[in-house]
Amino acid sequence: MTLSTYNGVAVPSFMYGTAWKKEATSALVQSAVQSGFRAVDTANQLIHYDEAQVGAALQSLAKNGIARADLFLQTKFTSVDGQGGRSPYDPSAELAVQVEQSFASSLRHLGTDYLDSYVLHSPYSRRGLGRSDWEVWGAMEDLYRSGKTKTIGISNVAAHQLAELCERAQVKPMMVQNRCFAALGWDIDVRQICREHAVVYQGFSLLTANREALIAPPVRAIAARVNAGIAQVIFRFAMQLGMLPLTGTTSAQHMRDDLEAERLELTPEEIRSIETVAL
Ligand SMILES: NC(=O)c1ccc[n+]([C@@H]2O[C@H](COP(=O)([O-])OP(=O)(O)OC[C@H]3O[C@@H](n4cnc5c(N)ncnc54)[C@H](OP(=O)(O)O)[C@@H]3O)[C@@H](O)[C@H]2O)c1
Repeated sequence: MTLSTYNGVAVPSFMYGTAWKKEATSALVQSAVQSGFRAVDTANQLIHYDEAQVGAALQSLAKNGIARADLFLQTKFTSVDGQGGRSPYDPSAELAVQVEQSFASSLRHLGTDYLDSYVLHSPYSRRGLGRSDWEVWGAMEDLYRSGKTKTIGISNVAAHQLAELCERAQVKPMMVQNRCFAALGWDIDVRQICREHAVVYQGFSLLTANREALIAPPVRAIAARVNAGIAQVIFRFAMQLGMLPLTGTTSAQHMRDDLEAERLELTPEEIRSIETVAL
């Protein structure tokens, strides 16, 4: 199963996330792809991710018959403040130059000449979008127009910011990537704007941000009915809501289990009961 962006790019329905994998990153990416994942998320942000190790994994996979073109690669531009003092670009350069330099370094790390998705890790402004956000977004639009990335997106974005971006950008985002809290109706406000603008919504920390919701009686009952694990039920729920879920599992068994979620079928009532479980 695949999703499609408003500009016609096919996106796999499940994404493997590489945050916090440190020196295990390369082996885990290889294992994830060999298990069946075809989308990989990283960021040019050394404190949490290791793009170069993702690149090393891609090289090994290519030698074993899984080519770059078979994969959907996503990485992010992270601001100086999010770099922990080790930014992969000149931190004193203008923002548009920082984006260009960061993007070029991502391509080098990953050993590719294009990305499938390039994401602004987080808006600079807490409320609304400010001058820095527009400057960076403009540079990302230029990368998109150049054909070096097939889509652009934004992460950690509030509903009012996303609405503003979709209204005012020359190229509106094709992707949003947000932490998905059950207590916020699984980010219902942001998902609604994504639906209105045909933006693909990627949900992360579906498991880790929702520990109480996952053990709620309705979720357990659904897992028992479909004879699956709670994680599988949540990932399938996310897909049936129209989301692209991320998993950050470090276990080969859980990689297989998570992919198996695609075979489940939840009823509309079950979807509704999980969607409202923490409201
Ligand atoms: N844009 C951003 O700012 C941002 C921030 C955070 C994360 N992300 C992205 O989202 C990705 C995923 O984030 P996350 O790590 O928070 O996701 P997550 O999938 O909610 O959390 C991973 C945890 O879930 C467990 N898990 C996964 N599948 C399981 C299963 N079938 N059964 C039991 N436990 C299971 C894992 O344990 P095991 O390892 O034991 O399986 C691990 O402890 C990251 O790697 C990153 O790419 C983006």
